[in-house]
Amino acid sequence: MQEFTYVRQAARVVFGAGTLARLREEVERLGCSRAVVLTTARQAGLVARARELLGPLAAGEFTRAVAHTPTDVTASALDLVRELGADCVVAIGGGSTTGLSKALAVRTGLPQIIVPTTYAGSEVTPVLGETDNGVKTTQSSPEILPETVVYDVDLTLGLPVPISVTSGVNAMAHAIEALYAPQANPVTDELALRSIALMSAALPGIAADPTDREARADALQAAWLAGTCLGAVGMGLHHRLCHILGGSFGLPHAATHTVVLPHVMAYNAGAAPDAMRRIAGALGAADAPAAVYDLVSALHGPVSLGELGLREENLARVVELAVGASYPNPREITADGVAALLRDAWEGRGPASESRALPTAELRTLTDQVVASFDGTPDPRVRRLLTDLVRRLHGFVADNDLTEDEWQYAIGFLTRTGQMSSDTRQEFILLSDTLGVSSAVDLLTNSRTAESTPSAVLGPFYVEGPPPLPVGADISQGMSGTPLWTSVRITDPEGVALPDAVVDVWQSNDEGFYDVQLHDLDGPALRARFRSDAEGLVEFWSILPSAYPIPGDGPVGEMLDAAGRHAYRAAHVHFMISAPGRQRLVTQLFVAGDPHQDSDVVFGVKDALVVDFPERKGPAPDGRELDGPWHSLEYTFHLAPATPR
Ligand code: BEZ
Ligand code: FE
Repeated sequence: MQEFTYVRQAARVVFGAGTLARLREEVERLGCSRAVVLTTARQAGLVARARELLGPLAAGEFTRAVAHTPTDVTASALDLVRELGADCVVAIGGGSTTGLSKALAVRTGLPQIIVPTTYAGSEVTPVLGETDNGVKTTQSSPEILPETVVYDVDLTLGLPVPISVTSGVNAMAHAIEALYAPQANPVTDELALRSIALMSAALPGIAADPTDREARADALQAAWLAGTCLGAVGMGLHHRLCHILGGSFGLPHAATHTVVLPHVMAYNAGAAPDAMRRIAGALGAADAPAAVYDLVSALHGPVSLGELGLREENLARVVELAVGASYPNPREITADGVAALLRDAWEGRGPASESRALPTAELRTLTDQVVASFDGTPDPRVRRLLTDLVRRLHGFVADNDLTEDEWQYAIGFLTRTGQMSSDTRQEFILLSDTLGVSSAVDLLTNSRTAESTPSAVLGPFYVEGPPPLPVGADISQGMSGTPLWTSVRITDPEGVALPDAVVDVWQSNDEGFYDVQLHDLDGPALRARFRSDAEGLVEFWSILPSAYPIPGDGPVGEMLDAAGRHAYRAAHVHFMISAPGRQRLVTQLFVAGDPHQDSDVVFGVKDALVVDFPERKGPAPDGRELDGPWHSLEYTFHLAPATPR
């Protein structure tokens, strides 16, 4: 059992794009009317924007925040705060500006609103580090924690890629060390893992397109979560080493974190196997330290302390300082161990691995060469897709230390998948379906609006040009089964009926077969095309569909067997609905209670598509008399307006 103490840090967080515009509202919310705006000389341009937004609430500004929060700079800012009679501090910038804001707050008790422009994370910690005559001291207290943090994704769009990478890995270091901190608890664990997953996926996206808002939002959110961990639990060897390298040897903060992190992870891996396994899971890799190193390498981030300006003769002094202090760390700190990890970090080698050392530098060069071979690709989208594919494939090969036999097997598997495919059997799509890729592409393409009915994959059994039938028809063509009366309405997202919609339906019979699989059958069955009436209504008879296995006689079946997965699709009816001025909806309705609902082999089930097909007795709604019970299906489909993507 894990015992822990968890203290919630009470900062108000406003997150979004363009949220800087809410600055005035946030100042007023704190009951303040004279804000002093802080930033660095390099970001002084932001002050004009803040002044404009704050209007009469802007009392003045201080644009001389610098790294390491020197006390003489704080003293000048404090004079200004007093002179202006400021009643709150608004800090817009990176770690240096946040540091100055905290230093002022701890001296004056003034409330703070922090608007971070990097991934430093210090905006959500109650910790302040200051330097006085070159000596760094750290203190922690509740007044240091800002009252409000405004995260504006737009302010990070211009953060250069190299700074985004180092700042992002710096944030990742907070999350990684939080997972093996003595104070770790279920809350910080979850925040840390989510942060690592978000950041590691966001950074390649930012490198490919620095203005990608989604990737930027993920990175900023990851930074917030990581900062929250940093504020909640103590940090270990990694933070200690970075503190020494920055404080005593002047190395740049975030870049130092970026170089050191994989090496400390490798050092601690054996002593914190559970944390390392979870980190690897969040990174989607087999070996966590190697994956962080590879990520940095792939993004052309710094990998060597030598490159950052640390002189070789200083390595021994760093070891002395690291061994001299006492702080929690999962593995005992030994001089030899720290010396070895620092040597690797100084030279820029990959992190030491318990398994056979990987030729990481050569792999990195190889990946870079292949990526560079696409530099001349005229279409930027094609370039992005190809280079990202290469990076991920190389990463997959390296992270899993793929053997030649495994590679041969994969090539053979794909070859057989192609050979199995024909006009009537698409084994590649089946592979994509069973790996969830088809559903992922479908989600991205067709299910972006919450108000419209979710989509689901088309599947291989749709046949172009189904037989047109009048509303009320029976599509079962005399097949045996339990009668099913379907009554569906086609509307817009507000519920306004859409008449004259083309509604194609197709489904399996009660043994799980589609008509195209029943070779003795004469003509189409259990498929039809209807048109909705003036009320948007389509009604028809069929039979209850059954769950069925997808074809298992090819490579996909082999994969499912190897994984111990079943091959069943939960019972469903397919719909393809088109109406003028609306996005086409391809979806499925699932019979509630089907045992395969939570393990559908193609991952097509969505909660909103699971429907009761209740049993009924007596005469049917269209007056039809039945011998026994029948079932009904009622549903309303909401079609989104057609908007070109
Ligand atoms: C189907 O529902 O018809 C289906 C979808 C994906 C793969 C196989 C079948
Ligand atoms: Fe189906």
